Amino acid sequence: MTLGSMGLSVKVVCLIFATPFAAAAQVSFHLTGKTLVLNSIPYFVPPLPISAFEFDTKSAAIVASVAKSFANELIPFSVVPTSATKFTESALETTVNSWKVQDDVFNEAFLTGVFVTFNGTAHPHVAPSVSLSSAQTKFGIDLLLLSSNYPGGVTLTKALPSGPYFLKPSTGEVFEALRLFNDENQAFVYGVIPDGNGGFRELNAHIEGAATPAVAVPSRLYFTPTAEKPLAGKRLGLKDIYDVKGLHTGCGNRAFFQLNPPKNATAPAVQRLLDGGMILVGKMKTSQFANGETATDDWIDLHAPYNPRGDGYQDASSSSTGPASGVSSYDWLDHAVGSDTGGSMRGPAGACGLYGNRPSHGAVDLTDVMPLSPEMDTGGVFAKNAKDWATVGHFWYQNMTSFSKFPKKILFPVDIFGTSFLANPPKAGTVDATLNDFIVQLEGFLGTKRTEINVTDLFLHTRPANASAPTLREMLNITYPALISLDQVALVADPFIAAYQAIHDGRMPFINPAPLVRWDFGRALPPGQKDKELANKATFMQWFAENVIKGDVLETCSDSIFLYPQTTGEPVPRNQYIGPPGVPAGFSAGRISSFAEVPDMVVPIGEAPFNSSITGKTEFLPVTMSFLAAKNCDLMLFNLFAALEDAQILKTVVTGTRLF
Ligand SMILES: *[C@@H]1O[C@H](CO)[C@@H](O)[C@H](O)[C@H]1NC(C)=O
Ligand SMILES: *[C@@H]1O[C@H](CO)[C@@H](O)[C@H](O)[C@H]1NC(C)=O
Ligand SMILES: *[C@@H]1O[C@H](CO)[C@@H](O)[C@H](O)[C@H]1NC(C)=O
Ligand SMILES: *[C@@H]1O[C@H](CO)[C@@H](O)[C@H](O)[C@H]1NC(C)=O
Ligand SMILES: *[C@@H]1O[C@H](CO)[C@@H](O)[C@H](O)[C@H]1NC(C)=O
Ligand SMILES: *[C@@H]1O[C@H](CO)[C@@H](O)[C@H](O)[C@H]1NC(C)=O
Ligand SMILES: *[C@@H]1O[C@H](CO)[C@@H](O)[C@H](O)[C@H]1NC(C)=O
Repeated sequence: MTLGSMGLSVKVVCLIFATPFAAAAQVSFHLTGKTLVLNSIPYFVPPLPISAFEFDTKSAAIVASVAKSFANELIPFSVVPTSATKFTESALETTVNSWKVQDDVFNEAFLTGVFVTFNGTAHPHVAPSVSLSSAQTKFGIDLLLLSSNYPGGVTLTKALPSGPYFLKPSTGEVFEALRLFNDENQAFVYGVIPDGNGGFRELNAHIEGAATPAVAVPSRLYFTPTAEKPLAGKRLGLKDIYDVKGLHTGCGNRAFFQLNPPKNATAPAVQRLLDGGMILVGKMKTSQFANGETATDDWIDLHAPYNPRGDGYQDASSSSTGPASGVSSYDWLDHAVGSDTGGSMRGPAGACGLYGNRPSHGAVDLTDVMPLSPEMDTGGVFAKNAKDWATVGHFWYQNMTSFSKFPKKILFPVDIFGTSFLANPPKAGTVDATLNDFIVQLEGFLGTKRTEINVTDLFLHTRPANASAPTLREMLNITYPALISLDQVALVADPFIAAYQAIHDGRMPFINPAPLVRWDFGRALPPGQKDKELANKATFMQWFAENVIKGDVLETCSDSIFLYPQTTGEPVPRNQYIGPPGVPAGFSAGRISSFAEVPDMVVPIGEAPFNSSITGKTEFLPVTMSFLAAKNCDLMLFNLFAALEDAQILKTVVTGTRLF
């Protein structure tokens, strides 16, 4: 074991040398935790203990002798509960083997100390016992401690769940063990730990040789999901536009990060997830102010996170780039929360081959979250499999009904797929065949056949009399860029620039090219444009609900499911220069949910090969499908995906180069 930073920081805020009898100097002091390396694995020890042993003289002497091998600092040990009246070597072995499978924090060095706690029902005549003499040699146990319900046992001031911990020999204090992970794909802004006060603090830890700050995760063994906390122990990363008490919100802009002090409140949407038991491990990168940016030449202020798929040098899409990059890169991260205004969840889910959703508009409260356009902003979550995703969705989107019967109508928009797969069956081995095979499986599962529609054509023939233009493309051409730019200029850009200029002698802060061109577009629009575009959005929303997907359906919530391809394995290399960013005008499938306020949920269904100019080999990129349903039918879709996973039509994706 090697000891790293002692993590002690002392900050003298105010010392008045000239007037020694003035009020006492204010000293701000807090411990920031320690880092250490155990069996070559880096760990973080939080500043505050979680419990303490009350040792008698004899145990204290044994502890002190073991402490010598650990610089008298911290002894790694494990809390091992058992309900067996007689705890034996084989029971310990079973426990250790299951821990190794379940947990990425535990390693065998934590068997240096073993604290056996009896949690069973004591037999009136037989005292519980522990028989581990041969195991002590086998597992290298130097310190065997028994809980106080064994004869001669010791007491902990607070009972602890099973798993690895550190013991401070001089005081008997016990600290949680957090493992440090390297953020190789640069998905995080920084790691965080709880501040012990309902808020969080930036993690003060770095792994030797790493390019970026480390992220700390607690042992998975500490947590057991319950009905009240179904998300217990799930590790969460958070797009850096959500406020968290004690932390900066940077929104992907360095000047913005510096200008604003740490937040004094946690966004209700985040608090809900924490209340469900999630463990916040870090803030993750967003493209600037949640606008669309393509890696890497749009990303001036922050370096774009890496997409692990394919050759590892593909754009991870935006704006929830860090969250998608992290979940697709790391087994140690379970979920990450992003936002979606015009595709910021769906694009990254597609590019990184993850489960990721844009919920119905209004599904989560976005108070204390940086706005792009409140009329279209939503909060979504990434996952590696449908069931975990559904569990988060059910807990988070609490005001929806969980329908568990599914629509019998699958809408297949030929104009979006580019053709009818019935009239022109795709050739085997093509991406279209991957899409079609999936739809055939879905048809089988739902016991139905697809209904082909042409959305462009349908609008031409059924558009409302008051539509401002004859085609969707003309009617909605600038609805999206007008709303996001007008809203964000008023709500974010203007107040930010004014506050920055007030303390920087009138200087402008640096803004990346993509948000800048959008803001400039908004500033140049004539008065009244916002109302016009809101009316166009309302026209579309109503037309879509009456003519395409109908809601308020008994038993299935939505009358149909509408499919479209989200990604088709097209490479977008991050070392390609793409030219200056433009205004996101036009109409495409991705805009439907933004305007109609319906859920748009992306699921990975396959992979497509490409020849990588970087590796010189055939690599694979995700093929993903988007599912739309009627507004507020999100939980029906989550249930459908969980059922499709049971039927092995959807599969868990793994991290790294390949999905499956
Ligand atoms: C006692 O501990 C064992 C081993 O961790 C666990 O499986 C069991 O659920 C625990 N029993 C109680 C009552 O907590
Ligand atoms: C929190 O900060 C906001 C603005 O940043 C301020 O208006 C509010 O008074 C603060 N609340 C507390 C409890 O400090
Ligand atoms: C959900 O319902 C609760 C309780 O009725 C309410 O307080 C909350 O505002 C609702 N949230 C949303 C996002 O509508
Ligand atoms: C969809 O309808 C539009 C407008 O009628 C037409 O131009 C287009 O070719 C159709 N697309 C397909 C794939 O049939
Ligand atoms: C859509 O808007 C863009 C940006 O203002 C403009 O350049 C383009 O000509 C418009 N297209 C249509 C079909 O109106
Ligand atoms: C058209 O009418 C609908 C329903 O009355 C309304 O919601 C929408 O805003 C109107 N659209 C325009 C462009 O005036
Ligand atoms: C890769 O390149 C080879 C040789 O040029 C070609 O035959 C093959 O079709 C290419 N594969 C893909 C997926 O583009």
